[in-house]
Parts: sequence; structure tokens; C-alpha cells
Amino acid sequence: MARAEFLLGAFCVLIMVSFDHAQGADGIDGIGVNWGNIASHPLDPHIVVNMLKDNKIKKLKLFDADSWTVSALAGTGIEVMLGIPNDQLKRFANDYGDCKDWVKENVTKHIYDGGVNIRYVAVGNEPFLKAYNGSNLKTTFPAVKNIQKALDEAGHGDKIKVTVPLNADVYESGSDKPSDGRFRKDTEDIMIQMVKFFNDNKSPFVVNIYPFLSLFQNPDFPKDFAFFDGAGKPIQDRNLQYTNVFDANHDTLVWALKRAGVPNLKITVGEVGWPTDGDKNANPELAQKFYSGFLKRMVAKKGTPLRPGPMDVYLFGLLDEDMKSVAPGHFERHWGIFRYDGQPKFHLDFTGQGRAVMPVGAKGVQYQDKKWCVFNKDIKNLSLVPKEIAYACAQSDCTSLGYGCSCQNLDMLGNVSYAFNMYFQMNDQSVEACHFNGLAKIVTDNATKGECLFPIQIVSSGEMLKVMIKGSAFLVGLFLSFITIM
Ligand SMILES: *[C@@H]1O[C@H](CO)[C@@H](O)[C@H](O)[C@H]1NC(C)=O
Ligand SMILES: *[C@@H]1O[C@H](CO)[C@@H](O)[C@H](O)[C@H]1NC(C)=O
Ligand SMILES: *[C@@H]1O[C@H](CO)[C@@H](O)[C@H](O)[C@H]1NC(C)=O
Ligand SMILES: *[C@@H]1O[C@H](CO)[C@@H](O)[C@H](O)[C@H]1NC(C)=O
Ligand SMILES: *[C@@H]1O[C@H](CO)[C@@H](O)[C@H](O)[C@H]1NC(C)=O
Repeated sequence: MARAEFLLGAFCVLIMVSFDHAQGADGIDGIGVNWGNIASHPLDPHIVVNMLKDNKIKKLKLFDADSWTVSALAGTGIEVMLGIPNDQLKRFANDYGDCKDWVKENVTKHIYDGGVNIRYVAVGNEPFLKAYNGSNLKTTFPAVKNIQKALDEAGHGDKIKVTVPLNADVYESGSDKPSDGRFRKDTEDIMIQMVKFFNDNKSPFVVNIYPFLSLFQNPDFPKDFAFFDGAGKPIQDRNLQYTNVFDANHDTLVWALKRAGVPNLKITVGEVGWPTDGDKNANPELAQKFYSGFLKRMVAKKGTPLRPGPMDVYLFGLLDEDMKSVAPGHFERHWGIFRYDGQPKFHLDFTGQGRAVMPVGAKGVQYQDKKWCVFNKDIKNLSLVPKEIAYACAQSDCTSLGYGCSCQNLDMLGNVSYAFNMYFQMNDQSVEACHFNGLAKIVTDNATKGECLFPIQIVSSGEMLKVMIKGSAFLVGLFLSFITIM
């Protein structure tokens, strides 16, 4: 090759390399996302997988092992954590044969050249949550050992490790200091055995940490301490200073692990994030503030005071889920970085350059017609409104109504229209779903009012989960109808 050509070639390579770098082609090391699917209209897994690739997301945590979803990940190289739901723990604790079948059908099937990069199996999801009253205490650890044994026996054990995503309420500190951290009394015996197993097995400890919930659950919680700007009044713990609740919480776990005799067990954050609706502190502005502070630390490989360095985390979550239980609060259905239709809500730079850019939205999403169902203003007799709004909200999702939420400024009839439209969209815009005893009508003008989006539902590709309307949705409906009549 002539010298000039060589130089030109080298120059091009140089440009390509720096271009790649500018695009942050590698994404952020250690960043994954949770992909939950408790939605009335799940997106096509192939669309979601392309969205993950577009955003350079290289790790994924699932809550089950749905074959359609997992298959869509084949050939992508994305690291996958499969999930086993809590209601299966008893079965896997008691029946090793079932564990072998699970591994065969949900793991081995996907392992081939160009298959799925499965790395972890999450056995249960926050099974020791206080609210479960100890109901999974006896079954979780036996299920963990059985599943790992079945993985080992099938020849996957070196690469695929079991773990248990635990809520941060599994440990506590008697004071506000991380150094007083230890496992919660009622779980301590089992936790000590389990973390030793994880340590010997080279499994990570997976913990879900929610600064938002600290704020939600305690009205006196100092708001600055939920974020990463260092504006909060620091907590002094021995020779270390804590300026945010994430670090303090994480390092409380580090101390609990020390006391349990496994000071070097790897910690992975299984869920961390901020919701955008359903509470006065849940909105896109605060979510953006939280994520941008968090990602900056990830890029800098800052870690926490006791565990400086790179960290492994899964953000919660990828998409909104309109059928999640709202028992913990209305914000539960609004954890998505992306909306139900895969469109981004706020600035978040997955390339790690901290730019004010939107993540890349889902492509090729098919929407239903531009039709909305609203209250018919010709109607003067409103006596049936409370009953109909209660029905609509019980069967759909009205969690954006209410104090501090995106639709809080609607007037009474705006509330009614919102509820009617949510029900209409949930039911795929069927004409019967816009009747409400003659109170409603279908319109083709965008019914959106200011901040309050009146959505058009997508054409669902998933199994219709809508038959499984949860009891809790019914209660919300009643609650909303109650405050609406007032
Ligand atoms: C495989 O996983 C799916 C989805 O989580 C589950 O429904 C199915 O029962 C599992 N298969 C076996 C054999 O346990
Ligand atoms: C736990 O106990 C509380 C209070 O006794 C009860 O209201 C709740 O339903 C129980 N939860 C479960 C999952 O058993
Ligand atoms: C309003 O509608 C209700 C229910 O259909 C009916 O019982 C009531 O008589 C009506 N009121 C008036 C003033 O027409
Ligand atoms: C609309 O509904 C919200 C939430 O239920 C409630 O706070 C508000 O007061 C309602 N507005 C009117 C005018 O009824
Ligand atoms: C309705 O209007 C809102 C606000 O301008 C907009 O965001 C939304 O995309 C519109 N919906 C449709 C289906 O055009």
C-alpha cells in the first residue's frame, strides 16, 4: 500500500474511532434495565429488544422466563437474568424434578451457538418482604439450591448463577448509621446461610434500593438526601460521610454482610429508579434529576464510600405497567423510563456523556385509531356519573388523576372523560366500551388537556392479560369515585 493510501486509511480509522467514541457506542458499563410486563397491551418483544440495542443497553432483568420474550433476545449478546415468581418457590423447594424441567424448558432450550446469553436466574422476587409476613421464609433457600443444582447438572452452572433479588427491608440499622447494619431479625438465620451459599457459589447478592420510597413513606425525609447533588446534610459514620440515602442504604448492606461473615460478597443493585406519575414527588423532572445524578456516578465508577469502584445495576424500569398492583401506591404503574408505548419521558443519556438527550424510543409501534371516548356534554342529568366513573377506573388505570399527578388539574367532567377514555382504550376502542349508560361519546379530536395526556392505546401483541383485572384496581376505582363526587 502506498504511503498516502496508508495514511488516508489510518486517518479514516481514526475518524471512525473518535466518531464511535463521540456516540458513546459502548453505552455505560454495568447498566442494565428491568423489563416487567404487567401491562394490558405489552409491546412486541422484538420491538423492545431493538429499543434496548438502540440505547446500548447490555443487561436485562426479567421477572419470569416467558419463552417469546427470551427467544427475542437470541443473538443480541444482551446478558439476561431470568426470573422465577414467588408463587413457584414452594414447588421448586419440594420437587427437584420440576427444577430440572424448568431448566430444560427455560434455559437449555435457549443455549446454543447464537442463542441467549443467560447469566443469572432470580429465584423469587423480594420473597422476604416484610409485607409477606414470612410466607416465603422456608421455601426460598431450598428452591435456590435446587435450581442451582439443576443448572449444574445440565452443565450451565459455571456460567449461570442463581440469586434472590431482595428488598432493602431485609436489613436494617438500629441507628441512622450504616455501620449498625445487620439482617432483619426474623430473616437473619436464613440470610446468613443463604449469603454463605452465594459466596461459595460465586452468586451476587441482589438488592433493590428505592430512594423514592424513603421520601414517599416518610413526610419528614430530607428531600435532598434522595438525590445525588450532595446538598443533603451529611451523615457522619466513623470516618465516612454519607450525602445521599442510596449510599447509606447500600453500605448498611455491606455491614450486614460483614457481620454475616461474607465481607466480600459481590453486590448487584437489582432495582433502582424513580417513577413519573401517581404521587406528588413522582414526575419526569425529578426522575430526570435522579437518573442523571445516578448515571454520572456510574460513568465515573464512583461506587459507594465502602465499595468504591464500578457497580452493577438494573434500572427500574423499562416500561410503564398499567396493570401492576397499586397497593404500595399509585406510582407503581409509572416506573418506566419509557411510556407504555415505548416513547421516552425525559432526558437520559444512555451513552454516558451526560447530554440533555432523550433515549431512543421504540420503533414500528402500531397504534389504534385516533379516537377518544369522552363525557357527552349534552347530558344534564349527572346522577349516574359516580357509578360509571367507578366502573371505568376499576377496570382500567386512573392513577394519573389525584393530588400531585399529571391530571390533577382536570375539572369534574374532565375527570369523567379521562376515566371513560382509559376504559375505552383498555378495551381496544370497542364501541360498547364507550357507552356508560349513554353518558359517553366517541370523538376524533385529541381529547388531551394540557399536561394530562389522553392516550391512544397500542395494538397489543401480547397475550391479553386484561382478564386478570386485579382486585386492587377495583378499590382504586371506588376510591377515585369517592373523591370525585366530593
Ligand atoms: C418456564 O417459564 C415459564 C414462564 O415463566 C413458565 O410459565 C413455565 O411453567 C416454565 N416451565 C417449566 C417447565 O416450569
Ligand atoms: C400479612 O399480615 C397482615 C396483617 O395481619 C395482613 O393484612 C396481610 O394480608 C398479610 N399478608 C400476607 C401476604 O399474608
Ligand atoms: C336522573 O337519572 C336518574 C337515573 O337514571 C333518575 O332516577 C332520575 O330521576 C333522573 N333525574 C332527573 C331530574 O331527571
Ligand atoms: C377530579 O379528580 C381528582 C382525583 O380524583 C380530584 O382530586 C378532583 O377534585 C376532581 N375534580 C373535580 C372538579 O371533581
Ligand atoms: C394529542 O395531543 C397531545 C398534546 O399535544 C400529544 O402529545 C399527543 O401525541 C396527541 N395524540 C395524538 C394521537 O395525536
